[in-house]
Amino acid sequence: MATKVDATAHDEPSNSEPVQKQQKQTVDPYNVQGEVDENGVVKAIDYNKLVDEFGTKKIDDELLARLERVTGKRPHHFLRRGIVFSHRDLELILDRYERGEPFFLYTGRGPSSDSVHVGHTIPFEFTKWLQDTFDVPLIIMLTDDEKYLFSEKKTIEEVQGYCNSNAKDIIAIGFDPAKTFIFSDFDYVGGAFYRNIVRLSKHITLNQARAIFGFNESSNIGRIHFGSIQGATSWASSFPHIFGEDEKETVGIPALIPCAIDQDPYFRMTRDVSARLKYQGKPYAKPSLIHALFLPALQGPGTKMSASIDESAIFMRDTPNQIKNKINKHAFSGGKVSEEEHRQLGGDTSVDVAFQYLRFFLEDDEELERIKVAYETGEMLTGELKAICIRELQRYVAAFQDRRAKVDDETVKLFMETRPLKWGGNPRAPIVIPKVENGDADESPADGEGKMTKNQLKKLEKMRQAEAKKAQKAKEKAEQAAAKAAGPSATV
Ligand code: TRP
Repeated sequence: MATKVDATAHDEPSNSEPVQKQQKQTVDPYNVQGEVDENGVVKAIDYNKLVDEFGTKKIDDELLARLERVTGKRPHHFLRRGIVFSHRDLELILDRYERGEPFFLYTGRGPSSDSVHVGHTIPFEFTKWLQDTFDVPLIIMLTDDEKYLFSEKKTIEEVQGYCNSNAKDIIAIGFDPAKTFIFSDFDYVGGAFYRNIVRLSKHITLNQARAIFGFNESSNIGRIHFGSIQGATSWASSFPHIFGEDEKETVGIPALIPCAIDQDPYFRMTRDVSARLKYQGKPYAKPSLIHALFLPALQGPGTKMSASIDESAIFMRDTPNQIKNKINKHAFSGGKVSEEEHRQLGGDTSVDVAFQYLRFFLEDDEELERIKVAYETGEMLTGELKAICIRELQRYVAAFQDRRAKVDDETVKLFMETRPLKWGGNPRAPIVIPKVENGDADESPADGEGKMTKNQLKKLEKMRQAEAKKAQKAKEKAEQAAAKAAGPSATV
């Protein structure tokens, strides 16, 4: 089971106090902290351990190859580099996509402040890629209620205020308004969504919530209940304006949830309940998940960026100069203490924060490899590596700021309006090519652009001809029968 923690310190960032005591790794929705060894040194987060503890699956080369085959698109560099590294039932989503069956994307953000940083944008960048790739509806939840319940000081008015600016930041990532619905819990809870929240909460006991999230007797009951709100968003039937009113249909439509791995406990719980629920005999679809690791804090890979610690993060509002100073001053270096030693032994890219950021933000695989080799052999010094990192982050943040400047209140209204969405799904799916017995069926498209191979076209043409022949025969038969029925005189 998940590591138990005290889920009361949500507002207080876990890396704000000096850590001295030896401590196990903690990753859950409220705390993210690598193991602390006996000397008080914080170790990098061990993601393999999380996969084991949580019971998720690693994304392997085989799955990536299938994803590429099914979508005809090269996997995003987060996938290629193991930044999006783990999943639950992603195969089932690919099966559905192949068959042209519906699914949707669901992700979210807790609006805890106006200061969105580069770490926050990672899951959203990946979500945009998923939306562009699969052409499916996307639902983005703003958990203003969660941020109120898990904070000691914030007022409802404050968190609701953050919703508007956070929605603008999210829209600036580049989501398609025709396919995207953003909502705030305070505004949208009610109707079909509330019915699902209550259905979910009825099937979670206090014992389960404690085991999953580490609550105790002093936890307020809003916190204990909150998981059913985040969970119920995984069910398509919570959104009749998008998927229709017929719950017998919509309970079978699953979500694919891209998120950072700390959100997994919510959905592990939702999957358990989904497996036990039926609507008029029809089973609820379990949500599938695809997990990203965290963008490390400037101080090192033992923790993630924190919005409340300015020098831990690069914010989306930072100026080019602020970015430069933060990286130069605070980014943890994997370089050696002296230039001489560095030239001799080389740097350690696995802990070097500037290099780790380049894995996220530098898309060119060859350039990244060249930098890796140069740094590890000591040919490149820390200052040079940091300069490249600064350039890339300045570029990323400036491009975001340009798009963000164009998002106004009207745009937010458009995205947050309860309305039907339009999407296309898999353009290749409606033409079902039956499997051929002799096994020479070629499932993969020839050029990845949605066209069919020659083999597939030939088979399709054969099928069409066979269908036409059959139809012709049936027509002739019917005509003969009609003639017979009309009597012998008509046969001439
Ligand atoms: N609890 C998340 C947060 O604090 C917000 C959230 C809600 C979310 N639903 C989600 C994140 C689904 C990822 C996927 O930021």
